[in-house]
Amino acid sequence: MTPLKIALTKGRTEEQVIPLLEASGINCEGLKNKKRGLIFDEDPRYEIILVKGPDVLTYLNNGSVQIGIVGSDILDEQQNSQYAMLDLSVGKCRFVLASTSSFNPQQPRRKIIATKYPNITKRYFQGIGEDVEIIKIEGSVELSPLIGLADAIVDIVETGNTLRENNLHVYAKLQPVNTKLVVNRLALRQFKPQIRELITNLQQADADYA
Ligand code: PRP
Ligand code: MG
Repeated sequence: MTPLKIALTKGRTEEQVIPLLEASGINCEGLKNKKRGLIFDEDPRYEIILVKGPDVLTYLNNGSVQIGIVGSDILDEQQNSQYAMLDLSVGKCRFVLASTSSFNPQQPRRKIIATKYPNITKRYFQGIGEDVEIIKIEGSVELSPLIGLADAIVDIVETGNTLRENNLHVYAKLQPVNTKLVVNRLALRQFKPQIRELITNLQQADADYA
C-alpha cells in the first residue's frame, strides 16, 4: 500500500504532536532522534515530512502530501480553513494586541502595528473600524514596540512568558489558535481507508491526552 504522506509543522507543533502520533500507534523513533533528516518513514504506513507552517499548505494544496498538521494561525492567515478535518487539543494559544505600558490605544495618530500575520491583523482592525499601518515582521515581533518600529504588535501568546520578559501588556484578545489536521480533498477519496484509520486513532489518542 502507498504510504500516506503527512506534512508536519516543524518546531513547537512538531514537539507537541509527536507524543500524540506515538500514542496513536505510529512509530516516531526517527522523528524523536532526528539530526538533519527531513523525511521520516520508519512506520511503513506513513511518510512524514517536516516543513515550516505556511509550506504545509503549499504541499497540501498542490497534492504532494495528503495530510497536513498545522496551526489554525497559518490557516486563518491564508484563509485556507476548508480542509480542516480534526481539531487537536495541543497548540492552544491566542492572538493578542500587545504593547508597552506607555501605549495609548486611543492615540490620535494612525497606529503602526508589527506582526507576522498581516491578514489577521488587517481583518481585526477592519472589524473594529480602524485604519492602521501594518509592518510585516518575520519573528521576535515583541522587539518592535521596544525599539520604536511599531506602536503595538499582533502576535500569538501561549504561556505569556515572552510578553512578561519584555514588559509588554495585552490590550485586546483576538481569536484563539489550536493545531489542526487538514486533508487534501482529492486525497480524501483516493486514500479514504488510510485517512479514516489515521483520524480515528489520532482522535482517540487526543481524547486520552487532553
Ligand atoms: C511565538 C510567538 C510569541 C511566543 C509566544 O514565537 O510569536 O513570540 O511564541 O509564546 P509564549 O507566550 O509561551 O512566550 P516563537 O517562539 O515561535 O518565535 P518567533 O516569533 O521568533 O518565530
Ligand atoms: Mg515570537
